[in-house]
Amino acid sequence: MNLKLLAGTHNENLSSDIALHLGVELTKRKIKHFMDGETYVKIEQNIRGDDVFIIQSLAKPVNESLMELLIFIDAVKRASAGRITVVIPYYAYARQDRKSEAREPITAKLVADIITKAGASRVLAVDLHVSQIQGFFEIPVDEVSAIPLFAKTVSEMNLSDLVVVSPDVGAVKRARILAKRLDCPIAIIDKRRTMHNDAEVMNIIGDVKGKNAIILDDIIDTGNSIVKAADAIRKQANKVLICATHPVFSGECHKKLMDSSAERIIVTNTLPVKFTEDKFVVVNIGRFLSEVIRNIHQDRSVSELFD
Ligand code: R5P
Repeated sequence: MNLKLLAGTHNENLSSDIALHLGVELTKRKIKHFMDGETYVKIEQNIRGDDVFIIQSLAKPVNESLMELLIFIDAVKRASAGRITVVIPYYAYARQDRKSEAREPITAKLVADIITKAGASRVLAVDLHVSQIQGFFEIPVDEVSAIPLFAKTVSEMNLSDLVVVSPDVGAVKRARILAKRLDCPIAIIDKRRTMHNDAEVMNIIGDVKGKNAIILDDIIDTGNSIVKAADAIRKQANKVLICATHPVFSGECHKKLMDSSAERIIVTNTLPVKFTEDKFVVVNIGRFLSEVIRNIHQDRSVSELFD
């Protein structure tokens, strides 16, 4: 099967970078919108029997990017592709992963169902909000992590006396993985969620006094959680750095981060990034994703790339 890369419109820079690293051209496609807002796509090359990777981040506006992905999958399926892997650098709706109150939906499962029903054969995603989402799919899922890239970036900053801080109890496993790579201890923030998109720091479990603290989170959306965490840690720590995979950055987030006591905010480009200030470090995940895609295409191990 030939490898074909198809880019949605919701992170074209990352798709072009992946194509560059793989040394393949992006497959030609046409996308337009009708007057009523309906999306139309057409694959403009033969992909019959090919190993097609559709790259689409579920970026804002989330429902638009999701719908475009579904229509792409359908077009590729009906064009008789051999296999369809959807590459979803940022999987939105992941935070609605269980019923925490009566009569709520489990939207992370619904999205998995519709992607599968549309015709995807497999999924490649980066740092899912919770890894259990892998099991929401009835097709194979490869979940890869930006943590090794964060570890490399932080190591190159030559900071001593590090501590990795988990912004809540649920994220401790991720913090441990980064701490192991940086050979340092962890601390945990005991956070209480007050409402959607807001949380209060109750306690800090562990020693951050005088240390260079790295708060590791998966998503920065409004910035409320991470800024409160950074400001609380900074009262005791020497420096505070933030690492987060997905820069959703809604509303006033950018300003909140600029005004926060964090010295550096390290994110990846799983979502389109526009900020240019020195306070932000953008780790390009394109090369890594290109290696993962190559290994999937060649039926080789993906986990061997993390070592
Ligand atoms: C929560 O469990 C997530 O890991 C993030 O901490 C949270 O969703 C970020 O949202 P916001 O930036 O709006 O506080």
